[in-house]
Amino acid sequence: MCGIVGYVGRSEAAPILLDGLRRLEYRGYDSAGVAIVDGDRVETRKCAGRIAALAKLMAEKPASGSFGISHTRWATHGKVNDENAHPHFDASGKIALVHNGVIENYQALKEQLNRDGNHDFHSQTDTEVLAHLIGSIYQQLDGKDSKARLVNAVRAALKQVIGTYGIAVVHANIPDFIIGARRGSPLVLGVGKDENFLASDVSAIVAYTRDAVYLNDFDVVAVERDKFEISSLAGETGDHQVSKVEFTAEDIKKGDYPHYMLKEIFEQPDSVRDAMRGRLSLEDCTAKLGGLNMTPEQLRDVGRVVLTGCGTALHAAMVGEYLIEQLASIPTEVEYASEFRHRNTPMTPDTLVFAVSQSGETADTLGALRESRRKGYRTLGICNNVASTIARESDGGVYMHAGPEIGVAATKSFTSQLVILTLIGLLLGRMRNLSTAEGTRIIKELETLPGQIEEVLKLSDQVKAIAKKYVDVGGMLFFGRQFNFPIAVEGALKMKEITYLFAEGHPSAELKHGIIALVRPDLPSIFIAPDDAVFSKNLNNIEQIKARKGPIIAITSGNGAKQLKGLANEIVSLPDVADCLSPILTVIPLQLLAYHLAVELGRDVDKPRNLAKSVTVE
Ligand code: AGP
Ligand code: GLU
Repeated sequence: MCGIVGYVGRSEAAPILLDGLRRLEYRGYDSAGVAIVDGDRVETRKCAGRIAALAKLMAEKPASGSFGISHTRWATHGKVNDENAHPHFDASGKIALVHNGVIENYQALKEQLNRDGNHDFHSQTDTEVLAHLIGSIYQQLDGKDSKARLVNAVRAALKQVIGTYGIAVVHANIPDFIIGARRGSPLVLGVGKDENFLASDVSAIVAYTRDAVYLNDFDVVAVERDKFEISSLAGETGDHQVSKVEFTAEDIKKGDYPHYMLKEIFEQPDSVRDAMRGRLSLEDCTAKLGGLNMTPEQLRDVGRVVLTGCGTALHAAMVGEYLIEQLASIPTEVEYASEFRHRNTPMTPDTLVFAVSQSGETADTLGALRESRRKGYRTLGICNNVASTIARESDGGVYMHAGPEIGVAATKSFTSQLVILTLIGLLLGRMRNLSTAEGTRIIKELETLPGQIEEVLKLSDQVKAIAKKYVDVGGMLFFGRQFNFPIAVEGALKMKEITYLFAEGHPSAELKHGIIALVRPDLPSIFIAPDDAVFSKNLNNIEQIKARKGPIIAITSGNGAKQLKGLANEIVSLPDVADCLSPILTVIPLQLLAYHLAVELGRDVDKPRNLAKSVTVE
């Protein structure tokens, strides 16, 4: 979680750091701070609260200098307060550090430091311990070259760390010099002209440069104005590629939308189109996914699929299980990434693993990917962020091409994941028993989806009116069957995340096995009941709730509306589509419902409480 921005160049650092932090705020937003070196003094400004609070502080007490580091925090160790905000300093007060991640052995390191010398700690963070450790090693090292000495001190300290980090370090007496290092938390170097940048993700720096070097775990980078040197924790230098960032600063603007989330919901006709662009072959009635790096023989021999991820990505995987089993008849399992790592999932040698992740940086998903590769399974990524850690560490994969997703609640990445999982099902199916006619039908339906999504988005005002009507509810229940069971769970997650209302999603039939006890007039049930093979079953469950005076909001399609009249309190009617593709449409009214209700309740839609966009801690 959290964001790091560093700058060394000829301009004033403060506005560049603040601008970068604003763009990274979605990664973590409980406190923020900067350290800017001026002469041989490190000027620090930090406080609990949003970047706006830090900007105010800096307006009152400006800090000048042309190099510095900054941070937006998502607390893991120690309360959210001014003292715990980063940067943190070593005992000499000369070395400043910002950190993303968790130092798991910080207690042991602290005890060791206290045994060896005098250390006053001013915060409860794990980060401050690392700053002291670097400082204490720096004191012990000799050498006239203070830059090399600092790099060596950082390396030696990091070798003692158990845990994860993305860090940036400056020293008051070493001008125009920043050290960055990573393990488990992303860090990217932005290469400019007579200036260089460090950041947790490229969105912070894309306004200044589109040339980026994505650091690998255990890389240490020494950054100066006009050069940089990357080496490993062991001290070996290696080659690194400068890549062009795919998007521009324009792409991460809100435009006329009040929130990123709404903008991203409305981008779905395009993002869904981009997820399938160039990947459909009407000639062979199949999908073309060259990034999988697999030969037809290897694809043919896949005997089992495991899909893993967290949160919304996991819900996409749940739809993926239905899709791959239906289209390709390959046994498919969904695994919580966090559990997969720690339990002994029996695997067969012909298992193909997919790690699904918008950010490509989620620690739990990355852990699952590494565990799966360690055991020798072919592991592929389904990621949005190009060159993210998961994308780089997997054996191949499929990019979503959804464009930057800034709203903490995932929306467009979800529908892109569903399209890609459909393409995977189609490809694997066509290697087996899926007929050319079926393949063609799915391709044709996929091609009509962007237009249908546009139709669904026109219902935003209807959904807004529903949100207004139900603004005082005590919570919501979500139900769906088959392909739409995961959509019930995803609808509930969206609702929880941004409205803070209690919400649960279940398979419709589970209702009578316990959940029905919750039914009451101020707890509406949202039924995702398109006019599909299981519509009549859903209708039974709706009757059961109606009989107990529970309000019903139905998301349906085709003839569903006619049959629901008089039964459901609200009916949202969507275009007809193949059963297996319906989640791509049904999830959209649920995204809109959560959005409009959150706005009605005055919630901070793009930065909901306690959450962060990219969860790089376990
Ligand atoms: C979605 O709305 C959430 N913010 C969260 O569950 C998210 O989907 C999860 O943390 C996984 O993120 P990823 O796709 O970047 O791996
Ligand atoms: N563990 C550190 C802290 O709690 C860093 C958290 C973060 O990644 O923002 O301050």
